[in-house]
Amino acid sequence: SVTRQYQFDVQTTSVTRLCSTKSVVTVNGQYPGPTLFAREGDHVEVKVVNHSPYNMSIHWHGIRQLLSGWADGPSYITQCPIRPGGSYVYRFTIVGQRGTLWWHAHISWLRATVHGPIVILPPAGVGYPFVPAPHEEVPVMFGEWWRNDTEAVISQALQTGGGPNVSDAYTINGLPGPLYNCSAQDTFKLKVKPGKTYMLRLINAALNDELFFSIANHTLTVVDVDAVYVKPFTVETLIIAPGQTSNVLLTAKPTYPGASYYMLARPYTTTQGTFDNTTVAGVLEYEDPCPTGAGKSVPIFSPTLPQINDTNAVSNFTGKLRSLASAEYPAAVPQVVDHRFFFTVGLGTHPCAVNGTCQGPNGSRFAASINNVSFVLPTTALLQSHFTGKSKGVYASNFPYYPLQPFNYTGTPPNNTNVMNGTKVLVLPYGANVELVMQDTSILGAESHPLHLHGFNFFVVGQGFGNFDAVNDPAKFNLVDPVERNTVGVPAGGWVAIRFHADNPGVWFMHCHLEVHMSWGLKMAWLVQDGGRPDQKLPPPPLDLPKC
Ligand code: C2O
Repeated sequence: SVTRQYQFDVQTTSVTRLCSTKSVVTVNGQYPGPTLFAREGDHVEVKVVNHSPYNMSIHWHGIRQLLSGWADGPSYITQCPIRPGGSYVYRFTIVGQRGTLWWHAHISWLRATVHGPIVILPPAGVGYPFVPAPHEEVPVMFGEWWRNDTEAVISQALQTGGGPNVSDAYTINGLPGPLYNCSAQDTFKLKVKPGKTYMLRLINAALNDELFFSIANHTLTVVDVDAVYVKPFTVETLIIAPGQTSNVLLTAKPTYPGASYYMLARPYTTTQGTFDNTTVAGVLEYEDPCPTGAGKSVPIFSPTLPQINDTNAVSNFTGKLRSLASAEYPAAVPQVVDHRFFFTVGLGTHPCAVNGTCQGPNGSRFAASINNVSFVLPTTALLQSHFTGKSKGVYASNFPYYPLQPFNYTGTPPNNTNVMNGTKVLVLPYGANVELVMQDTSILGAESHPLHLHGFNFFVVGQGFGNFDAVNDPAKFNLVDPVERNTVGVPAGGWVAIRFHADNPGVWFMHCHLEVHMSWGLKMAWLVQDGGRPDQKLPPPPLDLPKC
């Protein structure tokens, strides 16, 4: 293993899309940002220098950060932001992970343009557990583009209490593609050779939408999700939620010499309100077997994507995910659980401020919550307060977790106005074996929530529709080869059960990765205490940790 050093210069850069130019925050002037390469076992040091006028912090999404919580990155959770003119060196080691992850800004909506892939190769000399070995590997990163400044979009939404303006385009590697006006010149093209296998490293960096993805006349073999190998399976359409990553194999087989094939991505949503239902297209291009020069026309084939609200297509796909669970890559599923929790996740509303003109339902203000607590970010970092023993006035350790009263979570109950604001953490002893059931509450219409846990991978041991049945559902849990990941969709009108082993001391954020829900408060934090041994304790903060 080696040390990989990077410098990220955060700066403002002019970018033109859809025939309009705006100034956005980028890393090193690139949108999307640079790819970070490492091998499993490597040590990584990224010096982030903030030349932009915004506060900034960077999260290494999915990196376990074992005993390196100070490098995790969410603003006001593990660090205070890097002020304009400041810098901070993120130092971490990649332990037991290989595949694709990504990095992104973790403050306000700046991740809209501040994001890039993390490619983790197996250790030198170690191959992939699947065949054939790819001829070429290509990051395919989905994003979302607004003509307006995204910071203005979210601050306006929070002020009015309503929903934010939806985006103007989805993108593949920053490019909206030919199905938008004035955008054909900004199309992602993948040139392939017949008979070769390509590995696409898919990343959903969109702010607010889960996406269906498909390539005309080609199948995709899923070999990995969230940097963990899975039992390979082949599909025509994938679903990928914001925060999730997946490696898929594409075998190039043209059905028509010289033809091109669209790869399309479009949202999956059950939201009743307004959303961006446009489609981004990239092109799979074959070398022309008999080039005839410019102006010749070749057919372009287009895939068929599921209906925008096709929840069954989503659960069919996620139901196929199984970890490899082999001798070489075992699945360390906690078989015995000592901490069980039940969380409701969903949207609700606050009564509006005094004579406000709130644009939420019935003149209320949108809120989102876990167990009816809408999380409020503190003004100092939770990890720092915890480490220095000064939690008073910063956070409370009484996160509620047993609201298991008889309640029809997935019917159409009245609008939930019981949401309270709070900065509450849930404390776990070192080494706890946790089972967590997350139940979607259809209080403003059933909606899928991609929940992301920092600091851990977890196993998805069960999922279902309707209300979780604490008596009968646990008997059906998969404790043998459940998929292991860091971001899971709580199904629309359903529940998901996960297990994880709390072997990483620190404060770990958990939140919906739809940025709009996160802004409304759909987030909480776990506080994992130190263990007894020196190698079970969070080390002291680095000296350059940004001050609050
Ligand atoms: Cu990728 Cu806390 O997020």
